[in-house]
Amino acid sequence: MKSFKLTKEQAEMLARKYPTPLAVISTDQIEKNYHFLRDNMPRVRVFYAMKANPSPIILNKMFQLGASFDVASDGEIRTLQEMGVNGDSMIYANPIKTIQGLKAAAEAKINKFTFDNEKEIYKMAEYVPGAKVLLRVRIKNAKALVNLNEKFGAEPEDAVALLKKAQDNGLEPVGIAIHVGSQTLSTEPYHEAFGICHEIINRAGAAGLQLKVIDIGGGLPVPAPDTCVNLENMVNDINRGIEKFPPNIEIWAEPGRYICGTAMNAITRIIGKQPRNGNICYYLDDGVYGIFSGVFFDHWEYEINPFCQGKLLPSTFFGPSCDSLDVIVKNYLCPELEIDDIIAAYDCGAYTIASSTKFNGFARARVLHWEQENTETSTVGVFTGKSKCEAVI
Ligand SMILES: Cc1ncc(COP(=O)(O)O)c(C=O)c1O
Repeated sequence: MKSFKLTKEQAEMLARKYPTPLAVISTDQIEKNYHFLRDNMPRVRVFYAMKANPSPIILNKMFQLGASFDVASDGEIRTLQEMGVNGDSMIYANPIKTIQGLKAAAEAKINKFTFDNEKEIYKMAEYVPGAKVLLRVRIKNAKALVNLNEKFGAEPEDAVALLKKAQDNGLEPVGIAIHVGSQTLSTEPYHEAFGICHEIINRAGAAGLQLKVIDIGGGLPVPAPDTCVNLENMVNDINRGIEKFPPNIEIWAEPGRYICGTAMNAITRIIGKQPRNGNICYYLDDGVYGIFSGVFFDHWEYEINPFCQGKLLPSTFFGPSCDSLDVIVKNYLCPELEIDDIIAAYDCGAYTIASSTKFNGFARARVLHWEQENTETSTVGVFTGKSKCEAVI
């Protein structure tokens, strides 16, 4: 799938208008990603995992498109509530919930929750009595970029007993939740997980519990052209697994990175340059404590566009802080750049501005809405680059 990529002229236009660093979001790209999922996985109800990128630009777009939301905390619940999102369009999908989170959920009238252990049942029974609950089960997938199954998930053997316990405590056990792990490029873990779900559904049925929902969680990859996976084939194969569930079973998903990963570009400026240890070291005005926080929090490698051509030289890109950990990438082959040049990083919408900080007193990147910027500049005639239709690739 194509992603949103600003051209040199577009990036320069924005960097003339605003101080860098900039995080530029395309809602057209968000819409394309969402529609691809709706068109290709028609049975799936989409709950956007807002932890991946909670920018109001994206949240508003997803709300407008009719998506539901996966929330993990009282803060996320309140953000959505303030936008007018109904509790019925949210799932509290953090298996371990805070009391503040449960109180906020009760206030927002959220009625869908996941859990993976007995103690959580008592918390939910107290704060959100009668809630519909899904048991998160553990799925082993060592190949995921981010493996969530070491932290969460009940053992499948314990599933029916936990679901029964939830019912005995006044909750409504409605289904099973899985998460195959983030940036999973193979469908194998989904099929394995579906096998486990079938078994639990059958065992639960024999114990008098009719489960109605399978939540396949997040994990779909950032749909960048170089993810080495044909996304259409991937979702078609997942669909084949989904179709084996009876039609009365609802299928939910909580995509995060898939929705926002390709919808944001970073524009940052070179503020320092120094040859060191056979590399040219560049110091940028944003780093791993800012937009490039995915280096740590998401094991992400960023694609950098230097917007120029020339002999490729081993280069290291550092962030602006005084911290030695502030390394964006080492030994990156790049034409020689100069102080004040701008560069872009593409496909950096997921787990970047979501986890950026103001460490060392550096302000967070200014977040821009590309379609709005493009319309404004076209109207006032400042932008002399490509036309609006060519702008979003
Ligand atoms: C419960 C849950 N759902 C969804 C997601 C989103 O995952 P991804 O961004 O890989 O789609 C996460 C990520 O941590 C998660 O914990």
